[in-house]
Amino acid sequence: MNRRALILDELGLSPVWIRKDILAELQAAEPAPIPPASNAAPAPRPQGFSPVVVAAHQALAPLVSSPKFTPPPVIAPANQPVEDERSKHISIMSWEELRNAVSSCTACALCQSRQKNSEQPVFGTGPMQPNIMVLGEAPDSDEEAQQTPFLGEAGRLLDNMLAAIGEEQQVYKANIIKCRTPNKRNPQAAEVLQCAPFLKRQIELLQPKSLFVVGRFALKTLLETDEPVSALRENLHHYKQIPLIVSYNPSYLLRNLPDKSRAWHDLLRLKASINKHSL
Ligand code: URA
Repeated sequence: MNRRALILDELGLSPVWIRKDILAELQAAEPAPIPPASNAAPAPRPQGFSPVVVAAHQALAPLVSSPKFTPPPVIAPANQPVEDERSKHISIMSWEELRNAVSSCTACALCQSRQKNSEQPVFGTGPMQPNIMVLGEAPDSDEEAQQTPFLGEAGRLLDNMLAAIGEEQQVYKANIIKCRTPNKRNPQAAEVLQCAPFLKRQIELLQPKSLFVVGRFALKTLLETDEPVSALRENLHHYKQIPLIVSYNPSYLLRNLPDKSRAWHDLLRLKASINKHSL
Protein backbone atom coordinates (compact mmCIF):
# COMPACT_ATOMS: atom_id res chain seq x y z
CA MET A 1 0.00 0.00 0.00
CA ASN A 2 1.42 3.42 -0.88
CA ARG A 3 1.57 6.32 1.58
CA ARG A 4 -1.66 7.94 0.27
CA ALA A 5 -3.57 4.69 0.52
CA LEU A 6 -2.23 4.15 4.04
CA ILE A 7 -3.50 7.59 5.12
CA LEU A 8 -6.90 6.94 3.54
CA ASP A 9 -7.07 3.60 5.24
CA GLU A 10 -6.16 5.24 8.54
CA LEU A 11 -8.97 7.78 8.00
CA GLY A 12 -11.41 4.94 7.47
CA LEU A 13 -11.89 5.67 3.75
CA SER A 14 -11.91 2.80 1.32
CA PRO A 15 -10.67 3.28 -2.26
CA VAL A 16 -14.24 4.14 -3.39
CA TRP A 17 -14.25 7.04 -0.95
CA ILE A 18 -16.93 5.68 1.33
CA ARG A 19 -16.27 5.37 5.02
CA LYS A 20 -15.81 1.74 5.85
CA ASP A 21 -18.11 1.72 8.86
CA ILE A 22 -20.96 3.28 6.83
CA LEU A 23 -20.31 0.92 3.96
CA ALA A 24 -20.50 -2.08 6.31
CA GLU A 25 -23.76 -0.77 7.77
CA LEU A 26 -25.24 -0.30 4.31
CA GLN A 27 -24.19 -3.71 3.14
CA ALA A 28 -25.69 -5.30 6.26
CA ALA A 29 -28.96 -3.40 5.70
CA GLU A 30 -29.39 -4.41 2.08
CA PRO A 31 -26.80 -5.91 -0.21
CA ALA A 32 -26.19 -3.82 -3.29
CA PRO A 33 -26.77 -5.65 -6.57
CA ILE A 34 -23.61 -7.22 -7.90
CA PRO A 35 -22.90 -6.14 -11.45
CA PRO A 36 -22.26 -8.95 -13.93
CA ALA A 37 -18.62 -10.03 -14.08
CA SER A 38 -16.69 -8.38 -16.83
CA ASN A 39 -13.22 -9.00 -18.11
CA ALA A 40 -13.07 -5.60 -19.73
CA ALA A 41 -10.40 -3.29 -18.37
CA PRO A 42 -11.74 -0.28 -16.44
CA ALA A 43 -12.19 2.82 -18.60
CA PRO A 44 -9.19 5.17 -18.33
CA ARG A 45 -9.77 8.32 -16.28
CA PRO A 46 -9.95 11.51 -18.28
CA GLN A 47 -6.90 13.75 -18.14
CA GLY A 48 -6.86 16.05 -15.12
CA PHE A 49 -9.46 13.95 -13.30
CA SER A 50 -9.33 14.26 -9.56
CA PRO A 51 -11.66 12.24 -7.38
CA VAL A 52 -14.25 14.08 -5.30
CA VAL A 53 -15.07 12.82 -1.84
CA VAL A 54 -18.79 12.33 -1.49
CA ALA A 55 -20.76 11.32 1.57
CA ALA A 56 -21.46 7.61 1.67
CA HIS A 57 -25.24 8.03 1.56
CA GLN A 58 -24.95 10.15 -1.61
CA ALA A 59 -22.64 7.65 -3.29
CA LEU A 60 -24.89 4.72 -2.53
CA ALA A 61 -28.28 6.41 -2.82
CA PRO A 62 -28.98 4.99 -6.28
CA LEU A 63 -28.10 1.49 -5.12
CA VAL A 64 -29.57 1.24 -1.66
CA SER A 65 -33.25 1.64 -0.89
CA SER A 66 -32.91 1.61 2.89
CA PRO A 67 -35.20 4.36 4.28
CA LYS A 68 -32.37 5.40 6.58
CA PHE A 69 -30.48 6.70 3.56
CA THR A 70 -33.28 8.23 1.49
CA PRO A 71 -31.80 11.41 0.00
CA PRO A 72 -33.70 14.60 0.83
CA PRO A 73 -35.99 16.02 -1.91
CA VAL A 74 -34.39 18.57 -4.17
CA ILE A 75 -36.05 21.96 -3.60
CA ALA A 76 -35.19 24.79 -5.94
CA PRO A 77 -33.90 27.88 -4.10
CA ALA A 78 -36.76 30.33 -3.59
CA ASN A 79 -34.98 33.17 -5.39
CA GLN A 80 -33.98 31.14 -8.44
CA PRO A 81 -35.14 32.72 -11.72
CA VAL A 82 -38.01 30.76 -13.21
CA GLU A 83 -37.04 30.96 -16.87
CA ASP A 84 -36.88 27.19 -16.97
CA GLU A 85 -38.49 24.65 -19.26
CA ARG A 86 -41.74 24.63 -17.26
CA SER A 87 -42.16 28.42 -17.46
CA LYS A 88 -41.37 28.42 -21.16
CA HIS A 89 -43.96 25.71 -21.71
CA ILE A 90 -46.58 27.68 -19.75
CA SER A 91 -45.72 30.91 -21.57
CA ILE A 92 -47.10 29.56 -24.87
CA MET A 93 -50.26 27.87 -23.54
CA SER A 94 -53.74 28.68 -24.82
CA TRP A 95 -56.39 29.78 -22.32
CA GLU A 96 -57.85 26.26 -22.08
CA GLU A 97 -54.44 24.65 -21.73
CA LEU A 98 -53.62 27.12 -18.99
CA ARG A 99 -56.84 26.35 -17.14
CA ASN A 100 -56.14 22.62 -17.32
CA ALA A 101 -52.53 23.08 -16.26
CA VAL A 102 -53.62 25.09 -13.21
CA SER A 103 -56.29 22.59 -12.19
CA SER A 104 -53.89 19.65 -12.38
CA CYS A 105 -50.83 21.47 -11.01
CA THR A 106 -48.70 19.62 -8.47
CA ALA A 107 -45.68 21.93 -8.57
CA CYS A 108 -45.67 22.86 -4.88
CA ALA A 109 -46.76 21.40 -1.56
CA LEU A 110 -50.13 23.19 -1.61
CA CYS A 111 -51.45 20.54 -3.99
CA GLN A 112 -51.18 17.94 -1.21
CA SER A 113 -53.75 19.59 1.08
CA ARG A 114 -55.78 20.53 -1.99
CA GLN A 115 -55.96 16.94 -3.21
CA LYS A 116 -56.53 15.57 0.29
CA ASN A 117 -59.56 17.85 0.74
CA SER A 118 -60.75 17.42 -2.88
CA GLU A 119 -60.31 21.14 -3.51
CA GLN A 120 -59.72 22.90 -6.82
CA PRO A 121 -57.40 25.82 -7.55
CA VAL A 122 -59.23 29.11 -8.15
CA PHE A 123 -58.25 30.20 -11.63
CA GLY A 124 -59.99 33.60 -11.74
CA THR A 125 -63.29 35.12 -12.89
CA GLY A 126 -64.32 37.83 -15.32
CA PRO A 127 -64.38 38.73 -19.01
CA MET A 128 -61.51 38.49 -21.49
CA GLN A 129 -59.88 41.84 -22.36
CA PRO A 130 -61.24 43.50 -19.23
CA ASN A 131 -60.69 47.11 -18.31
CA ILE A 132 -59.15 46.02 -15.01
CA MET A 133 -57.43 42.88 -13.81
CA VAL A 134 -57.37 42.82 -10.00
CA LEU A 135 -54.57 40.74 -8.52
CA GLY A 136 -54.64 39.56 -4.93
CA GLU A 137 -52.87 36.96 -2.82
CA ALA A 138 -54.72 33.63 -2.49
CA PRO A 139 -58.28 32.33 -2.11
CA ASP A 140 -59.73 31.36 1.27
CA SER A 141 -61.88 28.28 1.84
CA ASP A 142 -65.19 29.95 0.80
CA GLU A 143 -63.59 31.36 -2.33
CA GLU A 144 -62.16 27.93 -3.08
CA ALA A 145 -65.55 26.27 -2.57
CA GLN A 146 -67.26 28.78 -4.88
CA GLN A 147 -64.33 28.96 -7.32
CA THR A 148 -64.44 32.75 -7.12
CA PRO A 149 -61.77 35.10 -5.78
CA PHE A 150 -62.64 38.05 -3.55
CA LEU A 151 -65.84 37.00 -1.83
CA GLY A 152 -66.98 37.91 1.70
CA GLU A 153 -66.46 41.26 3.32
CA ALA A 154 -63.19 42.00 1.52
CA GLY A 155 -64.80 41.14 -1.81
CA ARG A 156 -67.76 43.42 -1.11
CA LEU A 157 -65.42 46.26 -0.22
CA LEU A 158 -63.48 45.71 -3.46
CA ASP A 159 -66.71 45.70 -5.50
CA ASN A 160 -67.87 48.93 -3.82
CA MET A 161 -64.52 50.55 -4.47
CA LEU A 162 -64.68 49.63 -8.16
CA ALA A 163 -68.32 50.70 -8.39
CA ALA A 164 -67.33 54.07 -6.95
CA ILE A 165 -65.24 54.73 -10.08
CA GLY A 166 -67.85 53.15 -12.37
CA GLU A 167 -65.70 50.11 -13.14
CA GLU A 168 -67.48 47.17 -11.54
CA GLN A 169 -68.40 45.43 -14.82
CA GLN A 170 -65.27 44.94 -16.90
CA VAL A 171 -63.15 43.41 -14.16
CA TYR A 172 -61.21 40.15 -14.08
CA LYS A 173 -60.23 39.00 -10.58
CA ALA A 174 -57.43 36.57 -9.84
CA ASN A 175 -54.73 35.80 -7.31
CA ILE A 176 -51.03 35.12 -7.59
CA ILE A 177 -51.57 31.86 -5.68
CA LYS A 178 -54.34 29.72 -7.09
CA CYS A 179 -54.65 27.28 -4.17
CA ARG A 180 -55.89 27.99 -0.66
CA THR A 181 -53.05 28.28 1.85
CA PRO A 182 -53.47 26.46 5.19
CA ASN A 183 -54.98 28.71 7.90
CA LYS A 184 -54.79 31.70 5.53
CA ARG A 185 -51.05 31.89 6.00
CA ASN A 186 -48.97 34.03 3.62
CA PRO A 187 -47.83 32.27 0.47
CA GLN A 188 -44.27 30.98 0.68
CA ALA A 189 -41.60 32.06 -1.77
CA ALA A 190 -41.40 28.63 -3.44
CA GLU A 191 -45.20 28.58 -3.91
CA VAL A 192 -45.16 32.04 -5.49
CA LEU A 193 -42.32 30.99 -7.74
CA GLN A 194 -44.25 28.00 -9.07
CA CYS A 195 -47.53 29.90 -9.55
CA ALA A 196 -46.01 33.02 -11.14
CA PRO A 197 -45.76 31.62 -14.70
CA PHE A 198 -49.53 30.91 -14.63
CA LEU A 199 -50.33 34.48 -13.64
CA LYS A 200 -47.97 35.93 -16.23
CA ARG A 201 -49.58 33.90 -19.01
CA GLN A 202 -53.05 34.80 -17.74
CA ILE A 203 -52.17 38.51 -18.03
CA GLU A 204 -50.75 38.05 -21.52
CA LEU A 205 -53.87 36.26 -22.75
CA LEU A 206 -56.36 38.55 -21.01
CA GLN A 207 -54.69 41.80 -22.11
CA PRO A 208 -56.37 44.00 -19.48
CA LYS A 209 -56.26 47.76 -19.95
CA SER A 210 -54.87 48.16 -16.42
CA LEU A 211 -53.61 45.97 -13.62
CA PHE A 212 -54.77 46.76 -10.10
CA VAL A 213 -52.39 44.92 -7.80
CA VAL A 214 -53.59 44.57 -4.23
CA GLY A 215 -51.31 41.80 -3.14
CA ARG A 216 -47.77 42.12 -1.89
CA PHE A 217 -46.74 38.85 -3.52
CA ALA A 218 -48.22 39.59 -6.94
CA LEU A 219 -46.51 42.95 -6.75
CA LYS A 220 -43.19 41.38 -5.91
CA THR A 221 -43.57 38.95 -8.80
CA LEU A 222 -44.60 41.43 -11.48
CA LEU A 223 -42.39 44.35 -10.50
CA GLU A 224 -39.53 42.23 -9.13
CA THR A 225 -39.22 44.36 -6.05
CA ASP A 226 -39.23 43.94 -2.29
CA GLU A 227 -40.60 47.45 -1.72
CA PRO A 228 -43.80 47.56 0.34
CA VAL A 229 -47.17 48.67 -1.05
CA SER A 230 -46.85 52.00 0.77
CA ALA A 231 -43.65 52.85 -1.13
CA LEU A 232 -45.00 51.94 -4.57
CA ARG A 233 -48.65 52.94 -4.61
CA GLU A 234 -48.24 56.60 -5.56
CA ASN A 235 -46.42 55.86 -8.82
CA LEU A 236 -47.74 54.49 -12.08
CA HIS A 237 -45.88 51.28 -12.96
CA HIS A 238 -46.03 49.02 -15.99
CA TYR A 239 -45.91 45.30 -16.52
CA LYS A 240 -45.13 44.46 -20.15
CA GLN A 241 -46.43 47.91 -21.11
CA ILE A 242 -49.73 47.42 -19.25
CA PRO A 243 -50.27 50.22 -16.70
CA LEU A 244 -50.06 48.80 -13.18
CA ILE A 245 -51.52 50.53 -10.13
CA VAL A 246 -50.59 49.39 -6.66
CA SER A 247 -52.98 49.57 -3.72
CA TYR A 248 -53.85 48.00 -0.39
CA ASN A 249 -55.53 44.60 -0.20
CA PRO A 250 -59.22 45.02 0.76
CA SER A 251 -58.71 42.52 3.61
CA TYR A 252 -56.05 44.88 4.97
CA LEU A 253 -58.31 47.91 4.49
CA LEU A 254 -61.01 46.27 6.62
CA ARG A 255 -58.55 46.29 9.52
CA ASN A 256 -56.92 49.65 8.73
CA LEU A 257 -59.68 52.12 8.02
CA PRO A 258 -57.49 55.26 7.80
CA ASP A 259 -55.80 53.81 4.71
CA LYS A 260 -59.14 53.76 2.87
CA SER A 261 -58.68 57.41 1.87
CA ARG A 262 -55.28 56.49 0.38
CA ALA A 263 -56.94 53.61 -1.48
CA TRP A 264 -59.44 56.12 -2.90
CA HIS A 265 -56.55 58.04 -4.49
CA ASP A 266 -55.26 54.76 -5.92
CA LEU A 267 -58.68 54.13 -7.47
CA LEU A 268 -58.61 57.58 -9.06
CA ARG A 269 -55.21 56.75 -10.56
CA LEU A 270 -56.66 53.49 -11.82
CA LYS A 271 -59.62 55.26 -13.43
CA ALA A 272 -57.31 57.82 -15.03
CA SER A 273 -55.12 55.09 -16.55
CA ILE A 274 -58.17 53.36 -18.06
CA ASN A 275 -59.50 56.61 -19.45
CA LYS A 276 -56.11 57.35 -21.00
CA HIS A 277 -56.06 53.87 -22.56
CA SER A 278 -59.55 54.40 -24.00
CA LEU A 279 -58.69 57.72 -25.72
N1 URA B 1 -59.65 37.20 -1.49
C1 URA B 1 -58.86 36.87 -2.55
O1 URA B 1 -59.25 36.07 -3.40
N2 URA B 1 -57.65 37.44 -2.62
C2 URA B 1 -57.18 38.32 -1.73
O2 URA B 1 -56.05 38.81 -1.89
C3 URA B 1 -58.01 38.65 -0.65
C4 URA B 1 -59.25 38.08 -0.57
